[in-house]
Amino acid sequence: MKVHVRGLEMAYEDTNGNGIPLLLIHGFPLDRTLWAAQTRGLADMARVIAPDLRGFGESGLPSGAATMDTYADDLRGLLDALGVKNAVVAGLSMGGYIAFAFYRRNPARVRGLILANTKAGPDSPEGKQGRDENAALAHTQGAGAVGDKMLPKMLTPKTAAERPDVAKAARAMMARQSVDAVVAALMAMRDRPDSTPTLAEIAAPTLIVTGAEDTLIPPKESEAMRDAIHGARLVSIPGAAHLSNFEAPDAFNAAVREFLKSLA
Ligand code: MLT
Repeated sequence: MKVHVRGLEMAYEDTNGNGIPLLLIHGFPLDRTLWAAQTRGLADMARVIAPDLRGFGESGLPSGAATMDTYADDLRGLLDALGVKNAVVAGLSMGGYIAFAFYRRNPARVRGLILANTKAGPDSPEGKQGRDENAALAHTQGAGAVGDKMLPKMLTPKTAAERPDVAKAARAMMARQSVDAVVAALMAMRDRPDSTPTLAEIAAPTLIVTGAEDTLIPPKESEAMRDAIHGARLVSIPGAAHLSNFEAPDAFNAAVREFLKSLA
């Protein structure tokens, strides 16, 4: 499905139904198909809404730079267009950075937060340099080259070796993104604000999920968020790395189901 939001044609899945709205924000450099197993597996208890962020997947990319606030405002526009007053807002990795921005700007619209494989802190100086290098790589060699660099950290070595279909799907998702969208998101992540001060302000029920083998954003980042967000719960998924929902969908969905039940 597609809808016009803030000058952009935004593509999204919406399972409809009467369940609690669950907004799923994908990570970088991915698209809404990251959430296929959640869209399928949670539709019986939630109204699952999974958009493509601007420029990614089948969504358009208006000209100009983007910030985490830009992506967050696009999502608020989508909820407005769908008539959804408030939702459980779930973000994986960059999706989590956007979830923090969404919460800061619209706390009353967040019924619960799910922060998966993400962190609150900003990029280090080396991290910022890495963003510039990846932007140059995308310009010279395409989005697939950035994806190839990231792939070894997205999934565990065991999954990469024993489930080549999963590795192939993750690689294909990264390789098909547009260079302009990839570069815009890299700059937005490079310049994103520190969300650490936000943690103490979060009043929404919060579930934190990590992959026990995530080396891109290690579990200690999730533990720090759990300690700083009042009442937050942390689930660490064994045998999963950065794309925990994609690599271990059953365990991920079970954690989300329990969280949604606790909100009912
Ligand atoms: C993501 O998975 O969204 C990104 O790897 C996050 C990041 O690079 O900081």
